[in-house]
Amino acid sequence: MTAYEITEHDYDVVVVGAGGAGLRATLGMAEQGLKTACVTKVFPTRSHTVAAQGGVAASLGNIMKDTWQWHMYDTVKGSDWLGDNDTIEYVAREAPRAVYELEHYGVPFSRIEDGRIYQRPFGGHTTEYGEGVAVPRACAAADRTGHAMLHTLYGQSLKHNAEFYIEYFALDLIMSDDGQCTGLIAWKLDDGTMHRFNAKLVVLATGGAGRAYFSCTSAHTCTGDGAGLASRAGLPIQDMEFVQFHPTGIYGVGPLITEGVRGEGGYLTNSEGERFMERYAPTFKDLASRDVVSRCMTIEIREGRGVGPLKDHINLNLMHLPAEVIHERLPGITESARIFAGVDTTKEPIPVLPTAHYNMGGIPTNHWGEVLRPTKDNPDAVVPGLMAAGECASASVHGANRLGCNSLLDIVVLGRATSIRAAEVVDKKAAVPHSGAAKADAIMARFDAIRNADGAHPTAEVRLKMQKAMQKDAAVFRTAESLADGVKAIDEIWSTDMADLKVTDRSLVWNSDLMETLELYNLMANSSAIINGAEARTESRGAHAREDYPDRDDKDWRIHSLAWVGADGKTSLTYRPVHDKPLTSLADGGVDMKKFKPKKRVY
Ligand code: FUM
Repeated sequence: MTAYEITEHDYDVVVVGAGGAGLRATLGMAEQGLKTACVTKVFPTRSHTVAAQGGVAASLGNIMKDTWQWHMYDTVKGSDWLGDNDTIEYVAREAPRAVYELEHYGVPFSRIEDGRIYQRPFGGHTTEYGEGVAVPRACAAADRTGHAMLHTLYGQSLKHNAEFYIEYFALDLIMSDDGQCTGLIAWKLDDGTMHRFNAKLVVLATGGAGRAYFSCTSAHTCTGDGAGLASRAGLPIQDMEFVQFHPTGIYGVGPLITEGVRGEGGYLTNSEGERFMERYAPTFKDLASRDVVSRCMTIEIREGRGVGPLKDHINLNLMHLPAEVIHERLPGITESARIFAGVDTTKEPIPVLPTAHYNMGGIPTNHWGEVLRPTKDNPDAVVPGLMAAGECASASVHGANRLGCNSLLDIVVLGRATSIRAAEVVDKKAAVPHSGAAKADAIMARFDAIRNADGAHPTAEVRLKMQKAMQKDAAVFRTAESLADGVKAIDEIWSTDMADLKVTDRSLVWNSDLMETLELYNLMANSSAIINGAEARTESRGAHAREDYPDRDDKDWRIHSLAWVGADGKTSLTYRPVHDKPLTSLADGGVDMKKFKPKKRVY
């Protein structure tokens, strides 16, 4: 019996995380009349969605003709044919409705002259199944779209009486002996109390794991907690080798400069002042897909055409843009460039570098958000009582590479989808399940051991070692050698540093040392999945660029990888098929699959 006193809470649904996906799920659940709690380690409006800038993709066609089928095609192509076509269809089809819903909830979108929502071009978003011109598809609230969405969704959730448990850190999921999720235990950070949330359904919406890398656009809170919770519950994480590097993180520090800058007419140059993207992507140039632009920038730097005294970054130019475009459409990045790079965007270029930005992989789900635990006989077997949405999940909309603005879209469409499905699977009249005390004891024993860890390696030192290894060995370009080094480094961190960690502060109130240690375990689970998945995948696809295997190999590798990470970091891999079949056929007015066949991806 654990010595920790635990307060019990019973809910129909508990959502973990209060970013865009978590809030949209919470709001949807509350709208359905389900008794809903949202448990979050940060105040909702501080969640990392607040940093999303450029927009939310939807084929509104406000600036020029657009269709959801073109959006679907671009997303399938952007995913390098690793995305699941049923999910991609669902998301592209639902996108306009989701954006109008946000508008009606109160998101203050920028406007065009006739009052409709402003849209800007973003990389990889095109017309005519990739054969036409770039299309303005990103619905934007200046360059603070995520900020606007997050505040609106939080307000709406409160209006619908969702209950919030703010600054509670999820320790572990409670899984019944027959594999159902029946809740979780969380530590209340401001007073040190422990809380057990029993629920008919838990939704993980904990965001990405950007902080596995040394340089990233992500907040310090992006520690891959969902993948850590899932791994410790014996569940796999999918396609983690696909890590997106955003082309324009601010050099040396990482904060995002939105692709919207290039959507508004900004462009990249090398040390010769050349607009080098014209050479690599003659049609869409600076608006090619992100993985492509990041690789081209890296090649320019490697070949000696980087800028600055060390020739180690690239210039992003927007000095030529009219002042009103910068002031009205890009006020946020103007401020970021001034604060983080000391640059006046009207006079000088912004120094930028590809920077870890987004995890395409995550906890495998279907397009309703139900978590999958694939078996030999059923690759789509559902885990009862558990869903996931947003960056911590892999549904898989983005496959091997995500298009810009498809993330703000995925969080609202798939966040809402969890609540639609919940209305079908959660019985409001049924009793809330309670798994036995032994489950809580095991969770608290792990917590207590970490709290009292008295080894030789402080958390901050180990985290830095992990981040440096990931940055060096699992970056934009990868080789067998770099990945073998990475696997070795991460394995050694598990067996030496993690086994001998030092937590200095033993208290339970605002103990950031302890919280960061728990986060480090989660980050390590993500790092193991990334590096092992990447080493095994002997092809190049989307964001996974192997110099020793430069081509995509659809015969052997058009398949999702599943990393099963043990408590000691030992990772094994299995695979499950990609969903090729869309939800609708051409005969239903839907998808003409002939147009979606895999082909070479050029921009
Ligand atoms: O560049 C950006 O504004 C980022 C958008 C995204 O990651 O979707």
